[in-house]
Amino acid sequence: MSLRDWILKQRKKLTELPMSALTPLREMPTENIFRSGDVFVLFGELFGRGYANGLIDEARKAGMTILGITVGRRDDDHKLRPLTDEELKEAEANLGGRIINVPLMAGFDLDAPEGTPTPTDLLAELKLSNWQEAKLDWAHIERCREVGTERFRSSLATVMEELNGLIPDGANVFFAHTMAGGIPKTKVFLAIANRIYKGRGDRFLSSRALLDSDLGKLILMNFDEVTANTFEYLIEGSTRIRKRLAETGGEARYTAYGYHGTEILIDGEYHWQTYTSYTQGYAKMRLESHAEAAWQQGVKATVFNCPEIRTNSSDIFVGVELSLFPLLKALKRENGGVWAKEQWSICQELLQEGVQLEEILDKIEAYNSDPTIAEFRNFEAWPMDNTAELAEVMVGTSEEITKLHKDRKALITDHLSSLVLEGTGPLIFHEASRPHGPVLWLNHDIIARQLNSMH
Ligand SMILES: NC(=O)c1ccc[n+]([C@@H]2O[C@H](COP(=O)([O-])OP(=O)(O)OC[C@H]3O[C@@H](n4cnc5c(N)ncnc54)[C@H](O)[C@@H]3O)[C@@H](O)[C@H]2O)c1
Repeated sequence: MSLRDWILKQRKKLTELPMSALTPLREMPTENIFRSGDVFVLFGELFGRGYANGLIDEARKAGMTILGITVGRRDDDHKLRPLTDEELKEAEANLGGRIINVPLMAGFDLDAPEGTPTPTDLLAELKLSNWQEAKLDWAHIERCREVGTERFRSSLATVMEELNGLIPDGANVFFAHTMAGGIPKTKVFLAIANRIYKGRGDRFLSSRALLDSDLGKLILMNFDEVTANTFEYLIEGSTRIRKRLAETGGEARYTAYGYHGTEILIDGEYHWQTYTSYTQGYAKMRLESHAEAAWQQGVKATVFNCPEIRTNSSDIFVGVELSLFPLLKALKRENGGVWAKEQWSICQELLQEGVQLEEILDKIEAYNSDPTIAEFRNFEAWPMDNTAELAEVMVGTSEEITKLHKDRKALITDHLSSLVLEGTGPLIFHEASRPHGPVLWLNHDIIARQLNSMH
């Protein structure tokens, strides 16, 4: 299939999906069907700053048994292997629960039929001077995709077999999907990614140039596999467990973390805005469509579209953190008391002598009312391509604000990120007990209300 046909087919597939309407969660959920003896399964690994921490805290509070998986590790020759005893011990201590040690690395960037090159091998031949024109052998890429998908699904079947033995009849189970990624590790792509997500001036590169290349097309396919399709495989792979529980008085819930922009306070009102360019956005829409399809089959699966925070996975996107600052205003607006005021003081303390927090918040207001930025607040057109003008203002503002801190390693946005993930935990946990729909947005309003109610 030609590249043009492929892109047209993908676009058609997306336009055939019911257009996502912005469906924010506005009511604080309070239901809880989970209790001691029920099982929480984390479908992804747990990192220190990751979103999943908020949810796991709730599962622990409810006394649930916590189980996890691993994506496995790659040896020097790229062969995928389970965790060693030592790695497993460390991961289980970090999770606070048992981990099924069968590698569930998703994506196909390092998969290929025996004796043939993997997509990463093919990309290794590209250079900064020729990647835009370079053509890939799509029949071969498709075979690699099949090998990767087959590997993932067969390992998943083994994981589900073990899980089946660990989840008692009549229990409720909470499957929490966190998987997102798929950036192939090649020198050329890391250089391109640095230009798209961090570059400005001479170093700027348009995201459209990437998406129009064979390299970009391959990367979008891999994002789809890791970020979106793993949710479908999880729901499908756990059918037997779900049915058994339903027959014995238990229930199953599935949640996943989405991203599709966030409503934050701009000029005194909540407005939807987004980080641009979020090339993973196509995969996140596919993730939403998997939840919608499952929901139609009677499965309680919900994608929670969450705010921008700084984590291992989002650090590459310079400027993604700018939307966090107005959370401070939301905390006050949503009836914040002493605790909300304390958050302002904590953030003030992180700034250099003589720099006022209000000045930063004014800068963010000016940033959001800049026409170059406001132009990207277009929900229907999401995910839009970046522009050199956008990068100039966004990366510039991000760097300017970072410099006003005492320490680049202790940023206001680190503190606000930890608050957001703390707030999303109970919201997702309780909403999943009786979910209102397959796709819900957690915006700054409800997160601020949740945080104020907890403190
Ligand atoms: N950070 C943000 O601003 C933000 C915003 C909204 C939604 N999210 C979503 O939240 C979820 C958790 O991300 P996070 O930002 O907390 O970061 P994180 O780095 O803590 O989590 C990323 C997860 O993806 C898994 N993963 C990565 N590559 C994988 C692969 N090839 N195969 C299988 N699993 C893989 C990791 O094991 C980990 O569980 C993701 O779905 C992410 O897209 C993040």
